[in-house]
Amino acid sequence: MNFRFSKMPAILVTGGAGYVGSHTVVTLLEQEDIDEIVVVDNLCNSYRHDSDKKPVALRRIEEMTGRTLHFYPIDLSDQKALAKVFENHKIECVIHFAALKAVGESVDKPLEYYQANITGTCTLIEVMRKYNVHKLIYSSSCTVYGEPQRLPLDESHPTGQGISSPYGRTKYFCEEIMKDLCNSDQKWQIISLRYFNPVGAHPSGRIGEDPAGIPNNLMPFISQVAVGRLSELMVFGDDYPTVDGSGVRDYIHVQDLAVGHVKAMKLFQKDGFSGFRAVNLGTGTGYSVLQMISAFEAASGRKIPYKIVNRRAGDIAANYADVSLAQSLLGWSATKTVDDMCRDTWNWQSRNPQGYKC
Ligand code: NAD
Ligand code: WQD
Repeated sequence: MNFRFSKMPAILVTGGAGYVGSHTVVTLLEQEDIDEIVVVDNLCNSYRHDSDKKPVALRRIEEMTGRTLHFYPIDLSDQKALAKVFENHKIECVIHFAALKAVGESVDKPLEYYQANITGTCTLIEVMRKYNVHKLIYSSSCTVYGEPQRLPLDESHPTGQGISSPYGRTKYFCEEIMKDLCNSDQKWQIISLRYFNPVGAHPSGRIGEDPAGIPNNLMPFISQVAVGRLSELMVFGDDYPTVDGSGVRDYIHVQDLAVGHVKAMKLFQKDGFSGFRAVNLGTGTGYSVLQMISAFEAASGRKIPYKIVNRRAGDIAANYADVSLAQSLLGWSATKTVDDMCRDTWNWQSRNPQGYKC
């Protein structure tokens, strides 16, 4: 009998100290039927004070919810340490966020990305199989569609062609690996959630996106300009065939995304669900860079200085999701507007100008 660890049904969240993971943990803790959450994170893109065992994001979640989280500071490649987590807890389902995600960096360090994202996922799956855990929700990306052949992007759009980065290919390869796995054994239930562009923050302003270094993505860049950490935004191109020439994307509030994971978990309980399913999570509507700047200025009351520069290598003109499968299969659709996304991002950024390192 193991007295140190409870044996209540638990959900393992890899990368749960990161941006999407931390918001999903909050939403999971709000569910009455979820007993225990276990987070594994190697802290490569999340922050903890030297004096504390847990990352700041998880500490704040504990304060916000009054619940305690189990945390293991381990790397996914450490199979032994991962196995110990499955020994200690009665894991029933895994939500797998942990990955490296910087598109540009992946071009310079492809091996690191293949190791972390593909080998890491295979190691996790191997340990799951050993402990007879076959329910997995995977963080995929609209990047698996490559250059869109048609819009909106539905799940039957070809994947794997024209993906412009090693990062994007890791997401595609992991999906293919998981499909093969499901074909090999009907016990597996895997849902790959293809996120469009996650933005926003928890409305409390206690957790949010805290990129290391200069942000690669639009929304954290805009919010760091607004708060005075950066002087000016570069708009990458104004000559795309879009509403105003700037790039168009399907921005999705991170809280809506978090709810999508809970809905996906419910699908596991439905009779007859087995195998691999990929589902888009987006709003179905695209906004341009210039529209996002205006929306953020309105939400923050701050002017965002910007200048138009050349297109960024590898960028596409526009993408947005067909979200009908998420509606019909998961009973999920986005509820938050672009104004909500900008307001919550600004609330987080203005309360935490230096992110979690305050
Ligand atoms: P994030 O970097 O904020 O969170 C990832 C977390 O995983 C971090 O806390 C990091 O420390 C941890 N981690 C990374 N490698 C690890 C490893 N080998 N072992 C253990 N922990 C590790 O990223 P995010 O934005 O929250 O993204 C979460 C997932 O969603 C990723 O898989 C990402 O590819 C995917 N995704 C993100 C976006 C986006 O724009 N944020 C879009 C589509 C898909
Ligand atoms: C959005 C728009 C830029 C920054 C990336 C990944 C994708 C997925 C989501 C993980 C584009 C423009 C941006 C800036 C700008 N991540 N922009 N100035 O490129 O759609 O997708 O994040 O899976 O895989 O590629 O997101 O936020 O970088 O860009 O003008 O400083 O903003 O050109 O039109 P993207 P993004």
